[in-house]
Amino acid sequence: MYNITYYHKLIINKEITIAQNERKSIHGQWSSKVLFIFAATGSAVGLGNIWKFPWMAAENGGGAFVIVYLVSVALIALPIMIAEILIGRRGKQNPVNSLRYLSKEASQVKVYEVDHDLNRTKQTKYQHHNQEDYTNWELIGWMGVISGIIILSFYSVIAGWTISYIFKSFSGLFNQVTIDGATSLFKKFTSDAERQLAWHTIFMFMTCYIVSKGVRGGLEKAIKFLIPGLFMILLILTGYVTTLSGFTEGLRYLFLPDLNKITASVVWSAMGMAFFSLSIGMGALMIYGSYLSNKFSIFEVTSIVAFADTFVAVLAGIIIFPIVFTYHLDPTTAGPGLIFQTLPIAFGSMPGGETFGTLFFILLFFAAITSAISLIEPAVTLLIENFRHTRAEASLKIGFVTWLVGIGTIFSFNYWQDVTILGMNFFNLLDALTSKVLLPLGGFSMAIFVGYLVKRRTSVAELKMSQSMYTIWRVLIRYIAPVAVMVIFTNGFM
Ligand code: PFF
Repeated sequence: MYNITYYHKLIINKEITIAQNERKSIHGQWSSKVLFIFAATGSAVGLGNIWKFPWMAAENGGGAFVIVYLVSVALIALPIMIAEILIGRRGKQNPVNSLRYLSKEASQVKVYEVDHDLNRTKQTKYQHHNQEDYTNWELIGWMGVISGIIILSFYSVIAGWTISYIFKSFSGLFNQVTIDGATSLFKKFTSDAERQLAWHTIFMFMTCYIVSKGVRGGLEKAIKFLIPGLFMILLILTGYVTTLSGFTEGLRYLFLPDLNKITASVVWSAMGMAFFSLSIGMGALMIYGSYLSNKFSIFEVTSIVAFADTFVAVLAGIIIFPIVFTYHLDPTTAGPGLIFQTLPIAFGSMPGGETFGTLFFILLFFAAITSAISLIEPAVTLLIENFRHTRAEASLKIGFVTWLVGIGTIFSFNYWQDVTILGMNFFNLLDALTSKVLLPLGGFSMAIFVGYLVKRRTSVAELKMSQSMYTIWRVLIRYIAPVAVMVIFTNGFM
């Protein structure tokens, strides 16, 4: 037997680390850490925070939902987000290949040989336990690719509403609008399938165009002014709502949880919302992680992204609910139209509202497109790497399929309004399928994969956390997060 001393092991590990450090994604790397943070925040912050979060909170009892949401972000979503980025950065390829790479790596046994001249051991080759061991894990990647396409199909339709609202605001349609006026404006718009189709087409076209140019080129430029701009306008709106009579009632609704309202279904929705809002469980952050240089701490960037995302969602709630209560809107029945029926009233009655309204919907549109890009990037890179497509071909194909599925969502607001499957219209079905089933399932599998299969030394090397933080993360990823997802999922399902 070879006698491998501690010293020898050190040298070997160092060699492996160096080899790993030299690997890069074929699609390039983010030019800086800040840029990765911007890109990941761009993916996380989107329609989910501003359009979906208030709607979900309203539908699920306000404060009860918010409290469960915050706990889910901290205990479930955040550790899984770290795991997902870890897979991407280590794998450096599309989600399917990255998972394959990591599971191969995890099943390797090193074979050593002693080099007598240098008086040290050399690692000569890797050997796999079992060739079949690692192929199943790729399925997480495939599932993610499909989830991304489904989410984008309806996401794009809602983004289309946003573009239309830019013009509505700009043309002064919101001036002094009443609650009934705003509601009928929205109803009229969503009953018009052709108009929605036009915006949906335009949005999909823009997304594919940016993706076809490579994520970095377009994204780096857009995101630099988007994030600060969005924050600023949200703060202005927050200032405005403090003057409304329903301000305290709105805050109370949002932050004072009625614990009786915490049901299995509320918990399920809140957990799904955490996955959706942080863009985890489908490979979006995995692919962004694959463009992240090995120099940066995953933990640090993740915390910043999660904080920014939560902040924007809560701020959106702080803005929407005072308007809801001031104008006596029923929060439980507005559904996905909630922000499109409330915000115009705010813009219509505040000084400079036309400008702020226009600016707001422009920023929301940008927030949507930076998330949309991350939704199809996994599918596009899969076609490029595994099916020999050019970036343009891949974007076009995936874009077309997504666009086609999106038409179903448009119809569920008009022609197919009354067509339901499992009690849901087409749009609600896709939304529930992704947020409540596919994303949690993807996140759960990633937690198991990184928590149990990936070698401890690999995650230590990638995460570069302090000992105590690493231990906390490891407990969360191995025990708390997967068990919580399963319990919530099963209870919700019942
Ligand atoms: N996080 C985005 C939002 O809140 O709007 C939506 C999203 C993007 C979900 C990317 C999932 C994803 F992979």
